[in-house]
Amino acid sequence: MNKILVSIDGRSDEARDVVKLTLRRPDGDHLPGFTPGSHIDLFLPNGLTRQYSLVNDCRDPSRYEIAVSKAIASRGGSSCVHEQLRQGGLVEISAPRNNFALQPGHDTFQFIAGGIGITPILSMIRHCQSQGWKWNLLYLARTRAHAAFQDELLALGQERVRFHFDDEARALFDFSAPSFAVDPGVPIYCCGPTPVMNAVDRFSQGRPDNPAYFEWFSPPAEAVTRQPATDFKVKLQRSGQVYAVPESKSILEVLEENGYELSCSCREGMCRTCETTVLEGVPDHRDYVLSKGEREAGRTMMVCVSRARSEMLVLDL
Ligand code: FES
Repeated sequence: MNKILVSIDGRSDEARDVVKLTLRRPDGDHLPGFTPGSHIDLFLPNGLTRQYSLVNDCRDPSRYEIAVSKAIASRGGSSCVHEQLRQGGLVEISAPRNNFALQPGHDTFQFIAGGIGITPILSMIRHCQSQGWKWNLLYLARTRAHAAFQDELLALGQERVRFHFDDEARALFDFSAPSFAVDPGVPIYCCGPTPVMNAVDRFSQGRPDNPAYFEWFSPPAEAVTRQPATDFKVKLQRSGQVYAVPESKSILEVLEENGYELSCSCREGMCRTCETTVLEGVPDHRDYVLSKGEREAGRTMMVCVSRARSEMLVLDL
């Protein structure tokens, strides 16, 4: 993967435990373009790689803005951003990728953000504004102090934003309440912690007229109820090598053990970095990024988590 060196041109506190970074090329050149909902990999000084959504206006090629919430149980990513990335410093990033793109064919959108899940939604809202599309946002947060970008959102459309703060309401948001409705045909885009995503998933399942799209922070609960893994073989088209993938290992792990260096980042089926073309065989998709159509076509897979339904997969490697 080509890495891009950027300088941290700005750093500000956006909410409690949320810091915003502005990234630019040191020479002032333009950065690669992106579409609303895109994210970048941030290659952290402690060796970890983390994905963060771009929050700024995608029409501005001079900078990227990300916002990072310090996780209560940080595994080293968000804490490194908060403690080590300082204004004026340098850091490497990837070019943007988008697993959460606005689908064509609509001009009205319902957005639902939970906490720092506002980040991809904010760039989508900016895009809707620029296109003259209608949108509504339900923004859920633990407290008012934890909700980033409130002023910007209100400036973009005060009458379109509905906040819900758990502590003030003394309850989680109730998606079955009559006060929350989405018009038929309006797609729902949701990003937030797992409980919010699961609640929105349940809400949308009873509404086939409202297609729902999700950007997961971490694997959803469904991951624990999957079929047990079985062993299979992978053949690498370019070398003709065949490797056995035991039930205890991923394709990625087996290939790494055999000296291959594949691009990967999350290793959880969530970032699309390890996407690999399938030439023969039937993948058993266990990722969270492919669309229904891509799954059914079976021509591509995430080798960090997905497995095989056939005895052998032939990969374009
Ligand atoms: S490494 Fe992220 S999807 Fe495979």
